[in-house]
Amino acid sequence: MATIDMIAMGIYRISSFVPVWNITVNQFLIADDAPTLIHTGMYPMYDDVRKAIAQVLDPARLRYVVVLHFESDECGCMGRLLEAAPDAVLVCSRTGAAINLSQWDYSGPVLGVQDGDTLDLGMHSLRFLETPHVHHWDSLMLVEETTGSLFPADLFVQPGEQPAIVREDLGKQMCELYREIGIFAASEPVLRVLQRLERLGLQWVHPMHGGSLARDLWPKYAQALRTEPFAFDGTLLGKRLPE
Ligand SMILES: [Fe+2]
Ligand SMILES: [Fe+2]
Repeated sequence: MATIDMIAMGIYRISSFVPVWNITVNQFLIADDAPTLIHTGMYPMYDDVRKAIAQVLDPARLRYVVVLHFESDECGCMGRLLEAAPDAVLVCSRTGAAINLSQWDYSGPVLGVQDGDTLDLGMHSLRFLETPHVHHWDSLMLVEETTGSLFPADLFVQPGEQPAIVREDLGKQMCELYREIGIFAASEPVLRVLQRLERLGLQWVHPMHGGSLARDLWPKYAQALRTEPFAFDGTLLGKRLPE
């Protein structure tokens, strides 16, 4: 069963705890003239995600389904959500559209975006940042400009069943989790993006695993990334690989 909380003006966090991974999987719904869902959850989560959206608006009204990179937790429900919403368009990076959606059996509408592209939703406005290798080749982040909200996908995650808004500095636990599962090939692409994020005047950071971080807290997570090792060091999903 997913929980739903409003976390900023017109922005809702839909969250499900996945005990086997010890993380939450979050989607974000922006209720506006062009209703938008960011991340979809895994394929089996479809009914829960759809019901949570329906508490706020008719899922058939979705206009954009944004996939910040292609993995099942980010995109597993995209086919069914798009099918059930006749005007919906899948939004991903232009790189992601080229490498993941062409020469494949996906035939729905796609909008591939590049760094600096914007989408006007009505009261809200999205601006896209290309952030390759954080943690995929096709990775995007996006800023919702009215609320100063960053959606960084898998950056700034926290393990455990976290509330909608987290007030603790769990930066060390974040870095431990990253080392344990091995999702970042190297630290350099992440540190490069941090510098850019710090110039954006963000009010909120909404990771897709864990809870949202206010403007006074997320810099502590950035600091942890600068001071703790977090890149792949030979451990993949908890298993040490042969040297
Ligand atoms: Fe991911
Ligand atoms: Fe994720």
